[in-house]
This record gives sequence, C-alpha cells and structure tokens, in this order.
Amino acid sequence: MDHGRVRRADGAAVTDPPGRERVFVTRSLPDAWLAPLRDAGLEVEAAASDAAMPGPELRARAAGASALLVQLDDHVDADVLDAAGPALRVVATFSVGTDHLDLEACRARGVAVVHTPDVLTDATADQAWALLLAVARRLREGRALIAGGDWDGWSPTRLLGTDLGGRTLAIVGLGRIGTAVAARARAFGMEVAYHGPRPHPERAEPLAARFEPDLDALLEAADVVSLHAPLTAATHHLLDARRLALLPPHAIVVNVGRGALVDERALVAALTAGRLGGAALDVFEDEPRVPAELLGLANVEVAPHQGSATTGTRAAMAALCTRGILEALGR
Ligand code: GLV
Repeated sequence: MDHGRVRRADGAAVTDPPGRERVFVTRSLPDAWLAPLRDAGLEVEAAASDAAMPGPELRARAAGASALLVQLDDHVDADVLDAAGPALRVVATFSVGTDHLDLEACRARGVAVVHTPDVLTDATADQAWALLLAVARRLREGRALIAGGDWDGWSPTRLLGTDLGGRTLAIVGLGRIGTAVAARARAFGMEVAYHGPRPHPERAEPLAARFEPDLDALLEAADVVSLHAPLTAATHHLLDARRLALLPPHAIVVNVGRGALVDERALVAALTAGRLGGAALDVFEDEPRVPAELLGLANVEVAPHQGSATTGTRAAMAALCTRGILEALGR
C-alpha cells in the first residue's frame, strides 16, 4: 500500500506534502472544535456529513492519516487500522466509551487511544435523572393530556407518580458516571447500593453507598436500577431475561450507558407484560433503531443517545480529543 497517497473529501487521490501530517475526522464538526489541529499545522480532512460513515469509506479515507478522530458508531478494528497504515499514531474518539475500538489491535500497532472521560460525567448523569424523573412523574402522559386538549383542570387523583425519596437506587458500575448518578440520588433522598467487580470505598463512603457483591441480590432489592458498566463481552446482556425477572414489578430501569448492556427484547417483553415499573432509556441495542413497542408504552421515556449533548460538554469533549491528538503527534 502506498501510504504517501491519501484521499481528500472530494475523493481525489493526492500526495501528502512531506512532513504535513493529516487528521481524518469521520464526521462534520464545528470549525472551532477543530481549530487547534489546524493551528498546529496539521492537515484536517473532515467528512462533509453528520451521518455515520460506512466501513468501506472509513477504511478508504483513513489511508495515510496520522490521526483519526472518530465517533462512537465508527467501528475501528484491525482492518481500519491496517487500511490507515503505518503513519497512524493516534485514534481519538469523541466519547468516553471505547467499545467500538479494538484496543488490543491499537496497542499491537503502537497506536495511542484518546477518549473523553470526566468532562461528560455531569451531563450524562443529568440525562439519567431527567429520564428517570420523567418516568417516575409521568411527564409524558401529562404532556399528552395537555396537547390532546383533554386537561379539564386540577385533579387530586390523576397521573399519580412514584416517590423516589427513601427508595433504593441500584447502581451497576460505580465509575465516574455511576457515582455522579448516585450523588444526585442522595440529593433526592434515595438510598444507594452498588455492584461491580470490586468495592470502591473512596467513592461509596461519601454517598453512604452499600456494596453488594451479588448482582442478583442487588436487583431483587432495587426500586431503580441504573447501568454504568462499560460494554464488554462480559457485560453484554448483563440485564437479561432472568435478571430482569429478579427486579420488583415496580422497578424502573435506567440506561444511559450502552444499549447492549440490556437484552432489549427481554426488556420489551417485560415492559409490555407489565412486569416492570418503567424504563428510562438513552441508548439502544441497534441504534438508531428503537423498538416500536417502547414508543407505545406510557411508562417508557426514550432519548436519542444524547447523554453528553450539552453545548459546553461537547466543546470540552472536542478539546480533549484535539489535545490528545496533538500530544500523541508531539505537537
Ligand atoms: C457516549 O455514549 C459516550 O461514550 O461518550
């Protein structure tokens, strides 16, 4: 493969000027976000579209790049790394999750990986709570009542929701975002219990959060369960049909992590059978496909994977990506 040859946005093959390193950005992003790369003298080629890039196009356009700036729906596997070639030194992903990257293949090729932890913690925890409160307080039904012209005035018995104070929030994965969701729960007067590979006393003690080594026992005691484990082979369908059946019938499932942490078919089955209190979902197994059954259920709130979607958070994520690329390229 001739790694001196690259493709520009218009598809024409050109030869890189010697010494000018190229960053390929798989999605159209605001100029201001990419400015640090250009200011450092890098050639920045960004896709013209905001849509996910098909794998063959990603492989073709990555060829010869020194850095890739990708999104969470770009699958960067060994084929993409090989297509990029030996110039590639860093892959930066505009996400905290790295489940779409073959980290081992990156390591084997000496390609650094940059992601965006910390800066999106609060925005994502807020989103979990926005969705949870919407389910607990039946906001969707209330809006529909007004929009449908059916609200005939105050009622002492209409749209009664669920109190969260005094209830137990079960956190699966007390990492950054899990801890931030738990901290908000304490402000709402909830008790917090958590499960994960090991206890995290430094995070748990300030929240009086109880470690539960047995995930099944955690679920049995949960009024709300919120999933914050990274998606790996071990956590895929962590909440499967058997574990969903352990939850009390009033329990609400919250997922702002990754859709495949839950067996979505089993979740739909449990919800449609009335075996769960509700679901607050920002993520889905096969995005952007959302099972139609979920949309018809009053006790399900959905959002299009927008946990980190605030102006400030997304700018901070871009800054982390560009800083990481510049560091990896020694700029
Ligand atoms: C969003 O899901 C992320 O991983 O940043």
